[in-house]
Amino acid sequence: MKDFRESFPITEHVIYLNTANHSPPSTHVKKAIQDFLLDWDNLQRRGDYKVDLANNSFAKLIGSDSDEIACQPNTSRGLSTIASSIDFRNGENVIVNELENWANIYPWTLQRKKGVEVRIVDATDGAILLEDIEKMIDDRTKVVSISQVQWLTGARHELRSLSDLCHDYGAYLVVDGIQAAGALKVDIRKEDVDFYACGSYKWLLGPSGAGFLYAKKEHLPNLTPLEVGYRAVVENSLKEPLLHKTAKKLEFGEPSYLSFVGTLESIVHIIRLGTDRIERQIISLAQRLYDGLSSLDVKLVSPEEPRLRSGVISFTANNPEHIYNKLTDAGYVLSLRPAGIRVSTGFFNTMDEIDSLIEDVARLVG
Ligand SMILES: Cc1ncc(COP(=O)(O)O)c(C=O)c1O
Repeated sequence: MKDFRESFPITEHVIYLNTANHSPPSTHVKKAIQDFLLDWDNLQRRGDYKVDLANNSFAKLIGSDSDEIACQPNTSRGLSTIASSIDFRNGENVIVNELENWANIYPWTLQRKKGVEVRIVDATDGAILLEDIEKMIDDRTKVVSISQVQWLTGARHELRSLSDLCHDYGAYLVVDGIQAAGALKVDIRKEDVDFYACGSYKWLLGPSGAGFLYAKKEHLPNLTPLEVGYRAVVENSLKEPLLHKTAKKLEFGEPSYLSFVGTLESIVHIIRLGTDRIERQIISLAQRLYDGLSSLDVKLVSPEEPRLRSGVISFTANNPEHIYNKLTDAGYVLSLRPAGIRVSTGFFNTMDEIDSLIEDVARLVG
């Protein structure tokens, strides 16, 4: 991991614990983007080729086939594309929960105009429990949509039992993966997820402007995109364009090539390092932080149960804004969110950085 830390120059002058907000730029990503620009000067832009490679690398990362991946500009657009491509009927329902990022709320509440009911599950100890979804699901449930890792509490949801539950009721499991993919091992076949949307700029360690949407092959014929762009079309027509049979049918116009070039590079590095190894490092840093904060006068917002935790640990205390400002002045990069101070442990972070944060928080809370 040490040489990978060196490829994040930001780590030399701050303690960067904010990947849940935005990944820091690595030298690999910057170089790939610069090389692409130089190629462009030489009229060798090859943007579509790079986007295809990025799609393939994301497929490899999550264990899907390449033709189940559509490029998207971000997570919001991926979730929205799925929501608007599903054939909802009056009286059906969608289950979301109170912890979701708005990116995973609006695509579903918009379906109310088709007569779809949106059911909201309450959280328990910062997480969403399977049994609470079980109480709400019924034969009219079309979709359960959930983040694999919650953005505010860092709760990590086990997907296989959830997909089993959904499939028992004939519902799709849609997953917002932006706080998980790249940090935690994702095995889309094992989890049996139906749709998975992810953006580039957090744990995938890319620049913003790229994203991926996984759509399980068997569902592709049942999806009717609300909007059609030329990338989705295999044969143009003024009457009825013929769409690709693959997930490409969910693509639109020209993607941000620079974003995909950078993201391709970062995913290749993630795969080379190994997602098992990355996950182990991220979780052990987060565990150390959780244990350290547990002995202080702070309230942990992240779940107590280790199996429900990820690399995102949030806590609050008296006057969290004051603590956040002091930590920022001391050189930490963190996030202040409605739930408290959010710390995210990247694989490039060290135990020393975590110990120093615990000490500084201890001083501040007395
Ligand atoms: C869980 C979650 N979903 C979605 C988003 C928004 O993602 P995007 O900007 O890729 O649409 C965020 C951003 O913070 C997030 O944390």
